[in-house]
Order: sequence, then structure tokens, then C-alpha cells
Amino acid sequence: MSRAYYVTTPIYYVNAEPHIGHAYTFCVADSLARFHQMRGASSWVVTGTDEHGEKIVEAAAAAGLAPSEFSDRVSARFRAAWDEVGLTANRFVRTTDADHRRNVQAILQRVHDEGWVELREYDGLYCVGCERFLTDRDLLDGRCRDHERVPEKRRESNYFFLMSRAFGWLREHIERHPDFIRPARYRNETLAMLRDESGLGDLSISRPKHRLAWGIELPFDPDHVCYVWFDALISYLTGAGYPDDPGFPARWDAVEHLIAKDILKPHAIFWPTMLHAAGIAPPRHVSVHGYWNVEGRKMSKSLGNVLSPHDVATRYGFEGFRYATLREMSFGLDADLRDAALIERINADLANNLGNLVSRTLRLVERLCGGRIPEPAREAIGSPERELEALAAEVVARVDALMAGLEIHRTLEEIFRLVGAANRLLDLRAPWKAAKEPGGDAVVRTTLHATCEAIRVTALLLGAFLPAACGEILSRVGAAETLEAARLPDDAAWGRLVPGAPTRTGDALFPRLEARKD
Ligand code: MSP
Repeated sequence: MSRAYYVTTPIYYVNAEPHIGHAYTFCVADSLARFHQMRGASSWVVTGTDEHGEKIVEAAAAAGLAPSEFSDRVSARFRAAWDEVGLTANRFVRTTDADHRRNVQAILQRVHDEGWVELREYDGLYCVGCERFLTDRDLLDGRCRDHERVPEKRRESNYFFLMSRAFGWLREHIERHPDFIRPARYRNETLAMLRDESGLGDLSISRPKHRLAWGIELPFDPDHVCYVWFDALISYLTGAGYPDDPGFPARWDAVEHLIAKDILKPHAIFWPTMLHAAGIAPPRHVSVHGYWNVEGRKMSKSLGNVLSPHDVATRYGFEGFRYATLREMSFGLDADLRDAALIERINADLANNLGNLVSRTLRLVERLCGGRIPEPAREAIGSPERELEALAAEVVARVDALMAGLEIHRTLEEIFRLVGAANRLLDLRAPWKAAKEPGGDAVVRTTLHATCEAIRVTALLLGAFLPAACGEILSRVGAAETLEAARLPDDAAWGRLVPGAPTRTGDALFPRLEARKD
């Protein structure tokens, strides 16, 4: 069986509509899955919706619907939003799915049987936004720091998962596996949380049914339902086919959770300790990106600046949005989504640089070489051509190294070095002029062959990030391979185009976008 690569997005709460924050994580997941697939792994992508808990009950009540009806509706909107922009998953997990419910109950029973669960009286401040009891450090002037709402005072019997018992193990695991939580700032943040255990303690994993009935019943006490985070995290197992899908072990062995920094604690602390207690290996990577702000402000309903995947697809084309956000966000850090910057990025890189390279090369091939890949002339290969070829090999290797470290924005920057160099070669050799000179045919053929190769290699390297455009570029440039069947690094070796293969011109791949006039 081939090597697996399993990537997850968070499962999104159904109390909000899909927005570009959710979409960005999915774009990263989709790009990583495609990249690993091209590297020969069998990729598996999972997303879904998180449907239990008080927050959802509140939102359903506000909409005048039963929680199940409300969840059905919003979950379907998430699915439709992803379909509309072409983001697909191998499994869309809803926490209300029957197989997920079974998994949650099985894990609860297992950790209970292994002595990791205890019933305690809890007295504390509860934030419904966070769906948890807060500690002093979660508060600012008596309000939850994240949700800016005053928490409720609650006293109730809760089952606790004795998570703190596993902190020593977790600390050691993090220290032994430097790329478990990445980038390093989040690894350090997790170690800092673990150093100051007063902020952590054990984890309440149940809610009394009289307070909350919308959840998965505890198998060992039907008067309680499972805490929503304990339930939601297990969706990653469900999505991989736990417990008995034959693909599960290989997928789990190669799992990468993509999240934003807002949910570091549940992923870096709750989840690995839960798995440890259940006798399951921790995830290979928890990869954490920063937050998108919009025009310098936090995205929020009250500011009316929440952008949907549909909004950005209309404004930039979804692949344009995808490219510009992957290129603009330094993975791990916050970034500001500014319309002017996105437009500039798309116009400069996609329309002017790549789009232009493809269109002028293929128009010249059509005009000067009869629309077929030309045979290069050995005597016309000079150092600029050899440098372009060497650069292509260098970029292929650099892309691999950068992607291994999740440096997506630098990967894209690197690929565009090749695009820039190919454009410069075209300017330098000016085949449109050479064609008019005696003996210029060798220059024409050699230059256009080299730029076609550079285009092909670029399309392969960029294919994971801009799949539709790069599939089209490969076909226009007469490549023998399709994006789906192509393998890296082998197919990106220079010289795979077959002279005589037909090329095709077409509409602008990336039309120039107009800046907003205001
Ligand atoms: N339901 C939980 C996750 C459970 S996972 C087992 C949850 N859902 S959420 O709907 O609030 O989604 C949070 C995630 O959405 C973030 O981790 C991130 O992936 C994405 N984003 C939400 N807003 C974002 C930005 N403004 N910027 C970037 N990503 C953002 O938490």
C-alpha cells in the first residue's frame, strides 16, 4: 500500500456562516494534500461541522429552530460553500453522525475503564462562547478575554478527565518531537502552558443533561452528555475511518491537524492527552496558522466585515484568492487581508508574470513554430538557457525543503523566481526579432523550448496551490502528464516536453483585476 498523508481542518461550529478564515485553513489543507499526493502519498482530507454544545443550542433558539434542524441547515451551508469553490474532502464529519457518536462513546468508555475519569463537584465561572470553565488568566475585567462576555457562575457535578496526569508524558513528547507542534512559537506557547499548570488542571468532560441535552450521552452515566470539545476532537479519528477501516492505521500514522492559533490549547494539550489515555498515538503534526484580519480590523458580525468564500470568489476568482492569501500570510503569523494588496498580488504575480509568460510564449510558438513544441538547437543553447535549466532544478529541490517546514509563502515566492527568469530569457533572446534574422530559427526554437519547459515545471510546482489554472497550463503547453497523474520531483525534471507536441493558446488565464475606486 502506498504511503498515506492525512490532513484535517477544524470542524466548524454551526453557529456561524462559512467565512474566509475557515476557507483559508481549507485552502492550506487542500494544497498540502495535493502536494503530498504529487509526492507519491495517498492523501486523505477531512473537514466537517461541530454541532453539539450550548453555543449551538443558543444559536438554534435564536433562529427559532430545534438544534438538530438548525445544525442540518448550517452544516449543509458549509458543504455547499466548499462545493461552490471546489474544495473537496474525502470525508465531511458531522458530530451528529452515527459512526462518530459510537466512536465518542467508545473512547469515553475506554478512558473511564482505564481509570482516567472522576466525578467531581465543580464551582466556577463558565463561558458559553468558550464552552468551558474559565481560569483567572482567561479573564479581563471580569469578562472572558476572547468573547468579551461576563461568564456565568455555575456549580454542578462534572466528570473530569484526569488530564494533568499525562502532562509529564506530554512535555517529554513535545521535547522529543520538535515538529509535533509547529511553527516553534506555538510549541513554546504549549510548553509555557504546561509549565504553569495552575492554568490547566484536569478537564471537565461532561454536562448534566438537565442543563444541556444536545450532546452525546456518556456511556457510563446517562444523566450527562459529553463536553463538546471532547466530542469534537474525536471527529479526527472518525474522519480517518476509526476503528476498523483498513486505511485507518496508515492515515493516523501520518496525520497533520491544521488549525488557527485560537484553538491551540485543545489541540496541543487536551487532544494528545486524550489519545494517550485511550492508548492511541498522538498526531504527527499540529500545524498552527495565525489570524486573518480584514482591512486592519478583526472580522466580526457586528463590524459587518465578515467575508464569505462566495464574496472572495466573485471578487478575485477563488484561485486568485487562494494564491494571494497563501502568498501573503506567513504561516504562523497574523495577516491583514487588504483588498488593494490582494489585487496587487494577483495582478503582479498571476496576470503580469505567470499569465504573461504563458500567453506570450504560446502565441510565439503558434506563430513561429506552427503551434508545436520546437526542437531546441544544440548550438543555440547558451549560458542563459543553461542557467534557466539549473534554476528549475534548484527551485524543485528548494520547494521540497520549504514545504517540509510548512513555509508555504516562501515556496510560492521561490516558484516565481523561475517564472521571472523565464520571462527574462524571453526578453533577452527576443525570438520575435530573431525570427526575422538569417539563421535566427535556432534561437527561436531553443528559446521557446526553454520557456515552455519552464512553464511546464512551474505548472507542476504550482499545481498543488492553483490546481485549475495549472491543469489548464499543462494542457496548453502540450505536456504529456496531467496534474492528477504527475509525480514530483521526477516529472519536474527538465526536458520532458516532446518536440512536436501540440500547444494551444486561449483566453487570459488570470485577467487583470481593477482596484476599487474610493
Ligand atoms: N469547532 C471548533 C473546532 C473543533 S476542531 C476539533 C472551532 N470552530 S470554529 O468554527 O470557531 O473554527 C475555528 C477555526 O476557523 C480556526 O482554528 C481557523 O481554522 C478558522 N478561522 C476562524 N477565523 C479565522 C480567522 N479570522 N483567520 C484565520 N482562520 C480563522 O473552533
